[in-house]
Amino acid sequence: MKGNKMKRIYADVLIIGSGLSGLSTALSLAEKGLKTVVVTKEAIDVSNSANAQGGIATVTDFDVDSFEKHIKDTITAGAGLNNEKAVRFFVENGPDAIKYFEKLGCHFTENEEGKLDLGREGGHSERRVVHAGDITGFELIKVVKKAVLLHSNITVLENHTAIDVITESKFMSSESNKIIGAYVLGKNGEIITITAKTVLLATGGCGKVYLYTSNPDVTTGDGVAIGFRAGVPVVNMEMIQFHPTILYHEKIKSMLISEALRGEGGVLINKRGETFMEKYHPLKSLAPRDIVARAIDHEMKMSGDDCVFLDMTKLDGHFLQQRFPNIFRICMDAGIDMRTMPIPVVPAAHYSCGGLQSEPTGKTIIPGLFVSGEVAHTGLHGANRLASNSLLEAAVMGKYVAKEIVSYIADYTGECPEPPEWNPGDAEDEDEKIIIKQNWDEVRRIMWNYVGIVRSNKRLERAMARLELMKREINEYYWNFKVSRDLLELRNLTLVAELIIRSAMKRKESRGLHFNIDYPETLKEAKDTIVTQAEIF
Ligand code: SIN
Repeated sequence: MKGNKMKRIYADVLIIGSGLSGLSTALSLAEKGLKTVVVTKEAIDVSNSANAQGGIATVTDFDVDSFEKHIKDTITAGAGLNNEKAVRFFVENGPDAIKYFEKLGCHFTENEEGKLDLGREGGHSERRVVHAGDITGFELIKVVKKAVLLHSNITVLENHTAIDVITESKFMSSESNKIIGAYVLGKNGEIITITAKTVLLATGGCGKVYLYTSNPDVTTGDGVAIGFRAGVPVVNMEMIQFHPTILYHEKIKSMLISEALRGEGGVLINKRGETFMEKYHPLKSLAPRDIVARAIDHEMKMSGDDCVFLDMTKLDGHFLQQRFPNIFRICMDAGIDMRTMPIPVVPAAHYSCGGLQSEPTGKTIIPGLFVSGEVAHTGLHGANRLASNSLLEAAVMGKYVAKEIVSYIADYTGECPEPPEWNPGDAEDEDEKIIIKQNWDEVRRIMWNYVGIVRSNKRLERAMARLELMKREINEYYWNFKVSRDLLELRNLTLVAELIIRSAMKRKESRGLHFNIDYPETLKEAKDTIVTQAEIF
């Protein structure tokens, strides 16, 4: 038989992605009585949020800290590219978000006085990171997931992959561009047409665009690609954050060594046991992430070493075990006793500070299409995200995105038009899976080698030229063969790679995470890089 089998589902809201922002929005919507479907590519708890170690950056100790200090730190790290109004919105709503998750059942670590224990991370002028040991994301997702699965208004479809959202104008010879649903690839290969008045894209990041990343395999930039194809512009996609310290180990991939270790006194050293960060920034090992990642990259290139090391041996062994039980155990299993040996680390792609243009409440220019978490560019992060501000953004957005969606549906007039079924055309069974694998590897390698921590005009041009060839091949494959998760991910990954390269080419300066050796200076005025559909399709 040609093409994939078909099926239909109806919902008020379709949420694509099951990280913190997606699940907490689902919960708020369900509590308002809206029928909500959550589609996620793997199990409900596979996401970047679930892996987050550090915590939620929030002002809770007002004796020493203040919203103004948090705002200042965020804008300093973001190299002035932040939207100050958005920064204020997230910072000031942080404490309420903490209370909300505590009420839901999250246990954050407390100090001996029974107050929240506050961690410190790079770029923060005060201790303000609320955490649950070194598994904050796991704790948050565990609690939210439980509530989501118990709620009768929420249906969770695991192992389902979103293909594209559907706008009215695409099929209905209508002027209206509003959302009417989405096509989704079911777990048995069937294509599901979901009719929904609103869709929330909350698929998380795009770390898999790069060869080395701290992110899980699901992070192929699906939300950004789907939203862009629907017509939402992207902002500052060149601002890819590389985390300075991912475990360097031949068998263990993508294991983050939290910045909180440096916050507690960990020091970066080279193979010869020498410190080097004093050459790069007065805050040394605790300098903002972009500076530390670039410094490590430079040291590795100069010395030819495969990694640098994080030295925790000066800290009390008992404290290390108590404060970082998960990282301690994983290092031990890898044969690294952090009490006595430095931990080998390298930088890797970690977080996309840019994303789909949106308001802090998740609203986009497409009626009925909302975005949340890492998919969204709200203006909080600027040119470099301050550590632990990502869980802050996700934690705050759930409530406000839900409010926006409730109000959109309340104002909706008439029934949601039913989208036509997916048209398989002449799609046949995939013949050469090797094409997918080959292109997948090539995109990630090109991005790592040419569009990584340090960029140049020539490298960006080379990357774009190679991507153009691949784009043609992938497009042809997409239209001729039955869709599969691998193919959909590759299509998304390639588009996101292109958006990163085009954005990087447009920025004629170095700022925050974007460093181009041909434009090493930072321009006086901080301006967003915006790429629209008209520039690509
Ligand atoms: C970390 O724990 O180092 C990661 C936290 C973050 O990315 O904000």
